[in-house]
Amino acid sequence: VSPLETLAAWIEEARRSGVPEPEAMALATADASGAPSVRFVLCRGIDAEGVVFFTNYDSRKGRELSANPRASLAIHWSVLRRQVRVEGVIEKVSAAESDAYFHSRPRGSQLAASVSPQSEAIESLEWLRERHRTLEESLEGKEVPRPATWGGYRLRAHAVELWTAGADRLHQRIRYERVAAAGWDAGRVLAP
Ligand SMILES: Cc1cc2nc3c(=O)[nH]c(=O)nc-3n(C[C@H](O)[C@H](O)[C@H](O)COP(=O)(O)O)c2cc1C
Repeated sequence: VSPLETLAAWIEEARRSGVPEPEAMALATADASGAPSVRFVLCRGIDAEGVVFFTNYDSRKGRELSANPRASLAIHWSVLRRQVRVEGVIEKVSAAESDAYFHSRPRGSQLAASVSPQSEAIESLEWLRERHRTLEESLEGKEVPRPATWGGYRLRAHAVELWTAGADRLHQRIRYERVAAAGWDAGRVLAP
């Protein structure tokens, strides 16, 4: 199994163990000068290439990613005593993929994504609620169109580290690196 398949399996195991939001992951980006920033996003897909999440392309993370597409993420489930780190380069998912996910979300979330200028300073939350109400009224009975500025990114994974807690702090760390486009190396054990 590839390390990305292991990540998917570990998320499912965390879900079965009752972890709330087992797909919440910390996503680190950096601006053009190299200054880092980090926030949580939800993993919405894992494929052979990498990890997919959805957001606003004009948000702070979106602006940073357009200046510097390198990113990394970390995910941890305390009950399983496991951590996964992924490093790579970001690309946008296809418009069709973004449309499909956007329209699978609750209508209230679709409206919120449409009215929220994510990461911008706004007058108040009430101002945003008002925009939400106004759009809700004007779109009654109609499909909410996906805003062009909202969609998915795929972190194309170049390296994955699987971490499992061990006795006496002798944790198991295995770092995998992608070799060629299709495969992964056998993994190297890193000192904990
Ligand atoms: C558990 C959790 C999951 C989140 N998932 C997402 C997500 O999938 N997409 C998203 O845009 N923001 C998500 N957020 C909000 C982000 O953490 C963040 O506030 C927002 O994306 C703006 O980040 P930015 O200003 O760095 O772009 C989540 C927050 C939490 C606490």
